[in-house]
Amino acid sequence: MTAAEKATLALFVDLASAQLGSGYAEAKREYHFTGDAEAAGTESLEQVAADVRSCEHCRLCKARKNAVPGEGASSPLVMVIGEGPGADEDETGRPFVGRAGQLLDKMLAAIGLSRTSNCFIANVIKCRPPGNRDPQPDETAACASFLSRQIQLLSPRFILCAGRVAAQTLLQTTEPIGRLRGKFTDYQAGGLSIPFIATYHPSALLRDEKLKRPAWEDLKLLRSALDETMQ
Ligand code: URA
Repeated sequence: MTAAEKATLALFVDLASAQLGSGYAEAKREYHFTGDAEAAGTESLEQVAADVRSCEHCRLCKARKNAVPGEGASSPLVMVIGEGPGADEDETGRPFVGRAGQLLDKMLAAIGLSRTSNCFIANVIKCRPPGNRDPQPDETAACASFLSRQIQLLSPRFILCAGRVAAQTLLQTTEPIGRLRGKFTDYQAGGLSIPFIATYHPSALLRDEKLKRPAWEDLKLLRSALDETMQ
């Protein structure tokens, strides 16, 4: 059984027990599944991408034109994690290719990073929510194993998280992005501990010029940390 199939089964069990109503509120459970390929060490980014493209674990598969697994360097210094595909990404099957993506590329270039050399770019959810609404908790849960498989395979030196939705999802918090950004935390994922920094989403920067300065401060922090690790 693949990790994605196990995640679907667990989601189904959770939904079924919620439907049956056990009479008390149970804390939300967190899962990380090891698929047979992962356990056997034969897991690959291509396999994750193929699983994403054929995924039907939640309602978002129905309206998608293309699922968007992610792209970039296979041994990245930085893994950039955004929220989910928009219209342009749904059209092309590639992450961050619209206006926000073009700004993201410029922001990365300003600190010596690019998706063609030293970054991998992915999203928390891999299919476009209708009208670009926030992903719903069951959609995020259905997609979670894809991102954790990617993080395990890529083992990036740093994670740069773009925007509120991605930061809140990864850090399992409802704190506003203004309080999550601007500092490093360690992101724990399946035995890995990866320095993690969040910043404003490039589309927020396109809407509000005032956010550009703090976002630039975040990028400079990341650049300094990269320089330190490479000494
Ligand atoms: N916004 C995101 O969060 N991700 C994309 O891929 C595109 C826009």
